[in-house]
Amino acid sequence: MKRKPLIAGNWKMFKAEAEAVLFAEELALRVGDVQDREILVCPPSVYIYPVLHALTNTPVMVGAQNVFWEDQGAFTGEVSAPMIRSLGARHAIIGHSERRQYFAETDETVNRRLMACLRSGLTPIVCVGESLQEREAGRTLDVVGSQLKAGLAHVKADDAPGLIIAYEPVWAIGTGRTATPGIAQEVHAFIRSTLTGIFGTGVSAAVRILYGGSVKPDNIDELMAQADIDGALVGGASLEVASFERIIRYKG
Ligand code: 13P
Repeated sequence: MKRKPLIAGNWKMFKAEAEAVLFAEELALRVGDVQDREILVCPPSVYIYPVLHALTNTPVMVGAQNVFWEDQGAFTGEVSAPMIRSLGARHAIIGHSERRQYFAETDETVNRRLMACLRSGLTPIVCVGESLQEREAGRTLDVVGSQLKAGLAHVKADDAPGLIIAYEPVWAIGTGRTATPGIAQEVHAFIRSTLTGIFGTGVSAAVRILYGGSVKPDNIDELMAQADIDGALVGGASLEVASFERIIRYKG
């Protein structure tokens, strides 16, 4: 099955509003012709609206970095999936390792946020990945498998083809230490076979699996050449237009 590649930028907690809008305008000018791959930027939630506005009628989509699991209520400081969707955003990153590490995110809360996305028509990008300690202990596939099974609990097979999974080994995030294409492909193939076990072959062949962790202009081409790598979730290198453009225009 042919899966349309997706190159997504996770801006994390970076950029001021004017800079975010300028970046969006410049990116749209540079990649307006790209049709064979999808492009997404995920700014901090307070900039989703101005960035979306700057990207109207361009191929660049806008997503959130997180959503809360309830649709509304007395939850001071939280932002719900319907609120994000109503702005015009179409995607939300769920369960990023920084949220697991600093905000007590668990597989159960990942699952609740994921279900909130599906209820409101947002495409969830569900992040999984092992720590350095887990990799060195030979537990990578166990950890990723259980994050997937618990994170995707309750998802109906009908909804599953629309999911996006991001494999982000924690030891490769912001460290400059990318997983080799071979290491990434091994885990991506395992993720796809786990999805086959849960949802069947038709679904697993349709789900896109992104790689994230020190993706840069100089390693994107070989990562994208792997059979089960369907795109990238880019942190640092998505903050600068030229490097993000080069990643979007990977050769392959
Ligand atoms: P870096 O590309 O900065 O390593 O970040 C990866 C990431 O966490 C994307 O979500």
